[in-house]
Amino acid sequence: MALFNYFLLLFLLFFYNCKADFLGEYCGKNTFISPDSLKSANINHLLINLVANLPSNGFSSTSYGVGINPTYVLAQCRWDATKQHCSSCIQDAAMQIRQRCPNQGEAWTWFDYCFLRFGIQSFTGKADVSFGIIYWNVQNITNPANFYLKLGALMDRVRKQALESSSVGLFGNKGVISLTSSETLYALVQCTRDLSKLQCGKCLDIAISQFSVFCLNRKGCRVLYGSCFAQYELYPFFFPLSNSTYSASSAKYLRAAIYP
Ligand SMILES: *[C@@H]1O[C@H](CO)[C@@H](O)[C@H](O)[C@H]1NC(C)=O
Ligand SMILES: *[C@@H]1O[C@H](CO)[C@@H](O)[C@H](O)[C@H]1NC(C)=O
Repeated sequence: MALFNYFLLLFLLFFYNCKADFLGEYCGKNTFISPDSLKSANINHLLINLVANLPSNGFSSTSYGVGINPTYVLAQCRWDATKQHCSSCIQDAAMQIRQRCPNQGEAWTWFDYCFLRFGIQSFTGKADVSFGIIYWNVQNITNPANFYLKLGALMDRVRKQALESSSVGLFGNKGVISLTSSETLYALVQCTRDLSKLQCGKCLDIAISQFSVFCLNRKGCRVLYGSCFAQYELYPFFFPLSNSTYSASSAKYLRAAIYP
C-alpha cells in the first residue's frame, strides 16, 4: 500500500509539472522514518490530497492518520501570488519535498511563491524560527543613514498592517517608500495563517531583525522562516509582476542557512 502511494504521488505530480524557483529546504534532523512505514504513506496521502484539492485561498493545513500515526501538512502561497502561480508552485513543492528529504518525518521547502511543510508532529499555531534561510543582494547601498531611516519606517508600517490584516485571515502585506528622487524601496511580509496575531508579530520581529545582521547595507534581503518571511528590494518584486520585476532577476544573491 505504501509503495503504491509513492508511485501514485510521482505520477500525479509529474503530470502537473510546471516551474517555479526553488529557494531552500530543511530536512528534520531527528525524525527519520522508513520509506515503507505508515507515517511515510500518510505523508504521501496528504501531499496527493493537497495537489488534488488545491485551496482557492492559497492556504491549507491538514492532518491525516489515526491513532499513533497522525501526520501534518501545511502549504501556503505568497499572499500576493496569482492562483495560477500559486497552484503550480504548490505542485512543484509537493513533487520535490519528498525527493529532497526522502527519509525524514519532517521537511520544509520554500519556493518563490509558496511554502510547504510536513511533519509527524503537530507544528501549527506557534511561531517557528528554529531554522531559516537568508538571501542577500551582493550589492551595497551608498547612503546607510538615509536607507535605514526609510527601511525602518517602511517595515514598521508593513508589519503593522500585516497584523491588522489578520482579521481577514491574511497576515500578509506589502509596501513602498521613496528612498531618493530616483529610487524606491519595496517590502513584503507574510506569516503562515495558522498563527495568532501575537505569534505572527513575534515571527516578523525576528525576521526583520535579521536584516541588519545578515544583510547590513545590502540592496536586498529575504529572510525565510517556517512561520513567516520578510523581504525588501530596490525593485518591485511582488504581484502584479512587471517588466522591471523580470529585469531585476539579474541581481546577484548569496544565501545562508541559520540555526538558532
Ligand atoms: C559590499 O560590502 C561588503 C562588506 O563591506 C563587501 O565585503 C562586499 O565586497 C561589498 N560588495 C560589493 C559588490 O562591492
Ligand atoms: C513589457 O515589455 C514588452 C516588450 O518589451 C512590452 O510589449 C510590454 O507591454 C511590457 N509590459 C509591461 C507590463 O510593461
